[in-house]
Amino acid sequence: MEIYLDTAKIEEIREAVKWGVIRGVTTNPSLMMKAGRSDYRQVAQEICYLVQGPVSAEVTSEEAEGMVAEAEKIARWSPHVVIKIPVTEEGLKAIHILSQETVQETICQDCAWEGQCEMDRETAWHLAAAQGIRTNATLVFSSNQALLAAQAGATFVSPFVGRLDDIGHDGMEVLADIVEILEYYDLDTLVIAASIRHPLHVTQAALAGAHIATVPYPVLRKMIQHPLTDIGIERFLADWKKVIG
Ligand code: E4P
Repeated sequence: MEIYLDTAKIEEIREAVKWGVIRGVTTNPSLMMKAGRSDYRQVAQEICYLVQGPVSAEVTSEEAEGMVAEAEKIARWSPHVVIKIPVTEEGLKAIHILSQETVQETICQDCAWEGQCEMDRETAWHLAAAQGIRTNATLVFSSNQALLAAQAGATFVSPFVGRLDDIGHDGMEVLADIVEILEYYDLDTLVIAASIRHPLHVTQAALAGAHIATVPYPVLRKMIQHPLTDIGIERFLADWKKVIG
């Protein structure tokens, strides 16, 4: 299971990327608010530059037509960008339209990282053309929503495990059902365990067969920590001091 970071905070991404474990990032309007940023294009492009993997950016239109127009614009930011669309009737329409489209005109539009990025514009263009416009069906709370999103052509589906737990449902059970159904019918859509609240969620998502877990930075740090590791280091260092005097 791959690990994505669920944040729009550049400093968190910059740090976690150094650990070599981050394969992508998911953002949303609330995470942009928490990061204190409104310049979505610049934020997304910097994240793409840092991560060089899928970076989800969410549309804010509620009608399919507006979602598609936004998505076509966002898709020009980087070949790494994935369009996050909520699962509604309009959202499904937009996902379906986008699944049949390719990136129009230019790629890496107005990117401040051009020249420093490991991917040149020509390679970026070939990648974008090969991938088409990728979507991440978000705000998924049931197996049926995930099945429909997959049938509509979503590249990723994101069941929100923590928010289901919050209202007394079993988020992990819904996630496991989604993984099983998509596998059973050989659907290519990748499952992202989202709304992760604690390290146990990550382990459970991995055991359930999720392809990806998108994890908030504090949870990722907790995944690294173990008191026995700290005690072990302390003891080794104390013993080594005795050895060298
Ligand atoms: C997923 O892509 C979402 O950004 C995220 O996981 C939402 O989680 P929350 O319930 O912590 O807001």
